[in-house]
Amino acid sequence: MTRVLFRDLAQLATPGGSGSPLRGEALGAVTLLEDAYVVCEEGRIAAVGRMRDLQPLAGDVVEVDGHGRCALPGLVDCHTHAAFAGDRVGEFALRAAGASYEELHAAGGGILATVRATRAAGEDALVSLVREHARALLAQGTTTWEGKSGYGLDRETELAQLRAVAANGGVPTWLGAHAVPPEFDDADAYLDFALHDVLPDAAELAEAADVFLERGAFDRAQAERYLRACRDAGLALRVHGDQFTEAGAVPLAIELGARSVDHLEATGDGGIAALARADVVGVLLPASALFLGRPMPPARKLVDSGAAIALATDFNPGSAFCESLPLVCSLACTQLRLSPSEALAACTVNAAHVLGRAERKGRLAPGYDADLLLLDVPDWRYLAYHLGGDLGIEPFVAGERALP
Ligand code: NIG
Ligand code: FE
Repeated sequence: MTRVLFRDLAQLATPGGSGSPLRGEALGAVTLLEDAYVVCEEGRIAAVGRMRDLQPLAGDVVEVDGHGRCALPGLVDCHTHAAFAGDRVGEFALRAAGASYEELHAAGGGILATVRATRAAGEDALVSLVREHARALLAQGTTTWEGKSGYGLDRETELAQLRAVAANGGVPTWLGAHAVPPEFDDADAYLDFALHDVLPDAAELAEAADVFLERGAFDRAQAERYLRACRDAGLALRVHGDQFTEAGAVPLAIELGARSVDHLEATGDGGIAALARADVVGVLLPASALFLGRPMPPARKLVDSGAAIALATDFNPGSAFCESLPLVCSLACTQLRLSPSEALAACTVNAAHVLGRAERKGRLAPGYDADLLLLDVPDWRYLAYHLGGDLGIEPFVAGERALP
């Protein structure tokens, strides 16, 4: 049996409790052990405790020295658009000079610019690009990640994106309703095609479906049609909603039993109250709000009212060119007024819940997958405190070093 002992850890921090998603005060209840150890067996966590309580381990044990380092669960990024080719650095410069994201989108740039680059790349190149992106996520501490399609919007490229995500260990989501591609006159005609020609195969490859419910993209009725068909095909549901306007995403997500509604920068008190009573998780993407110079989502009100939240990067080339959940945690503490403990739970156990993986991912506790990070810092809260800093992250997946 392969056994790994992480020993003499300065600190070990993990979200508390046992269920998911964590809400209210439970969100901020971190379990903190000083001078700690973790024992892993066959890729799972077998025991966690204080060094003074460590019993002698029989048989072969690989030891990892944790002196001066902190252990955290591997981070879970539950919202990325990692399957893309090309970049949008030119648009970034235009936005810096005053152009808005919505104007660029309306002029055929934005998402459609990345659609052109992704269609042109071909599947082999896409697989390599996603491999590079997954590696960049891992270097920032992300050991579990979701990747959406939505930059193909034709049959071949959408399916290639989903395969590229799965081939690189990501959790694939079919974002078949991201934008209306130029070969269709309107959103309804595009949805006729997507649901008839792409959904049957996408449902075999993806775990969930997602839609961009927003002016200039898909309206509530179109989003509902798309999501109902996807749910009937066995997919879990996600919604991009309330990014720029409140267009019915929150009530729709609740009505259809979606796993999450993501963005929420424009959500008002009615939406907050509705989420407080719902099982739908609000996925907050402060790197996207920062990158686009938009208002931040009402995180504090959501948490205080009892809504379940998660944090994610939204990694993509247009609205959030950012792979770093630690940076997202910094934004959560400085802009969203979350505590470091709340931020940690939001990008571990609660994000794992959004991906249907909270039984095995997002905590350092017996029975969970041995996905963990060693950080070369004196206090685990450096995760959020060191803004864009080097945390000396060494990631382990299933008990094994995941970066050379
Ligand atoms: O979550 N808002 C829609 N989709 C992405 C952006 C995709 C892009 O700009 O390429 C988002 O922000
Ligand atoms: Fe997104």
